[in-house]
Formats: sequence, structure tokens, C-alpha cells
Amino acid sequence: MKKKAITISIINNKGGVGKTMTVQNLSAALAEREEMVCMIDLDSQHNLTNRCENLSREEEELRICKYEGCAIEDYLANPEIPIRPLMVKKNLFLIPSTIRLAELSASLYGMNINERPSDKLKDLCNDIQNKFGFIIIDSEPGMSALMANAAKAADIIIIPINCQDALSGAGEGVFGIMDNNNLDTPHYFLQTMFENRLKSSRDIRSKLTEEAYENRFYTIIKRNEHLNIAGNLGLDIFEHAPKSGGASDFKDLAAEILSIIKRGHKK
Ligand SMILES: Nc1ncnc2c1ncn2[C@@H]1O[C@H](COP(=O)(O)OP(=O)(O)OP(=O)(O)O)[C@@H](O)[C@H]1O
Ligand SMILES: [Mg+2]
Repeated sequence: MKKKAITISIINNKGGVGKTMTVQNLSAALAEREEMVCMIDLDSQHNLTNRCENLSREEEELRICKYEGCAIEDYLANPEIPIRPLMVKKNLFLIPSTIRLAELSASLYGMNINERPSDKLKDLCNDIQNKFGFIIIDSEPGMSALMANAAKAADIIIIPINCQDALSGAGEGVFGIMDNNNLDTPHYFLQTMFENRLKSSRDIRSKLTEEAYENRFYTIIKRNEHLNIAGNLGLDIFEHAPKSGGASDFKDLAAEILSIIKRGHKK
């Protein structure tokens, strides 16, 4: 029997911490290693979809037409639709989202974060689990019901921490959701946008090493302008600057995750 995909949700209620950056480039790094990867854009801002396609913000109408019937909101609203992830490049696929996800999320899950998450996203992942080695979910900021569903669907949770910002918070909202729903999912902190010259970066690194040694990735994603530029061009870092520090960091992260899984990631 074919192995079941590992579902990784990248979540943090805090915005701008590098969730989408991590989903795009971790997925590309795993695809470079011949893993079959499906990314899911579970954010109505659809930054991940933008980063994979290079349509401008003004082309929202075009985007809605382009993805009609194959966006995450369509599948969640109607589980009968056969799921057709779109090919981004070799080994790498995307289930996109559009602004319509915002309209639908209220009716799909209710507005109340304290409601129990539905099983719809988890079921969707189960439907495609035999086709992929990894399913990697991007989530929106804020204490949204979508984030709770991403947490519920995950085998592994990654919580990016923005090292530019000492007050970035350590994903407290994520732990609130895990506690409320009795989720005991293995979770790891990922330091992003790290700059050694910044006190905030050094402080966060020390704090995580002292207080979350087992739950932090050894790999640190450093601030690297190529990562920024690649995303704006609709490319991943391996397409844009394969020899950059950003590419090297995401290669290391992919290797670390594969080794965690090999050791048996379940706690
Ligand atoms: N390592 C990095 N080096 C340089 N720029 C980065 C890096 N990581 C993220 N960025 C930039 O920081 C900004 C925020 O990153 P990103 O969009 O991935 O965060 P996010 O957590 O997904 O945000 P949101 O909560 O709005 O979805 C983006 O402009 C991105 O290009
Ligand atoms: Mg994002």
C-alpha cells in the first residue's frame, strides 16, 4: 500500500511571521528532493497563490475565473467535487484560494473560534493522501476558525517566529486552539527573518534554545532579500536564486524535517 502523506500546517495567529514564505519554499525544497508535495492555500489573502502565479492584485477577477471550481473554498463547500490540485512544477502542486474563501469561511465553519473545528479540511487531506508525500497548509493570521481547522488536519505543526520582532509572541493562540480541541500534535518553532546583528534575533534564539530545545528547529531561516524578490516574481527560491543563503536555509529545513520524520515524529 502506498504511504500516507504527512500533513504539515504552518500556523501562527500573529501576522507577517513568514508562514507563506515557509510554505512556498519548504514545499519547493521537498519537491527538489523528489518528494511529491501539495500546498494548500487556506488564507483568503491568497498570498501563496499569488506567489506561485505572478498575477497582480488588480487581476482578482481573472483569478476568480481561473480558479473557479478548483479552489480550496470550492472543495470545502462541496466535498463531492473531485480534487484536482494544480501543477506548479515537477513534483509540486497547489490547491489555490481566492478572495471568495473569506465569504465562505463564515458559512463553512461559523465565526466563533470556540466552535469545534469541522472535519472538512482533514477529510480533504485524506482524499489526496495517497497521491502525495507531503501536504503543506498555509493559514491566515488571527484567531480564525480556518486556523483551527488547519491545526486539526495536521500531523505536524510548524509555528514560525519572526526574529525581527522581540514581541512577536510564541504562537500562544496556536496553543490555545490545541488545548481547546485536545490536540496533542507534534509542533516545532521555526525562527524566520533571523539577523545576528539584531538583539531581538539573538534573544529569541536564546529563549527557544533554553525553553523549547526539543520543539525548535535547529535550522534557522535568515533574512535574505532573494527570498522576498522571488516571491514577488511568482517564483520559489530554487527557481530565482538557487545558490542564495535563502535556498540553502530551506534545503536544510527540508532535510531536518525528513530526519525528524524518519526518527518517528509522533511524540
Ligand atoms: N527570510 C526572509 N527574508 C526576507 N524577507 C522575508 C523572509 N521571510 C519573510 N519575508 C518577507 O516578510 C513578509 C511577511 O512574510 P509572509 O508573507 O511569509 O508572512 P505571513 O506570516 O504569511 O503573513 P500573513 O500573516 O499576512 O499571512 C513578506 O514580505 C515576505 O516576503
Ligand atoms: Mg501568509
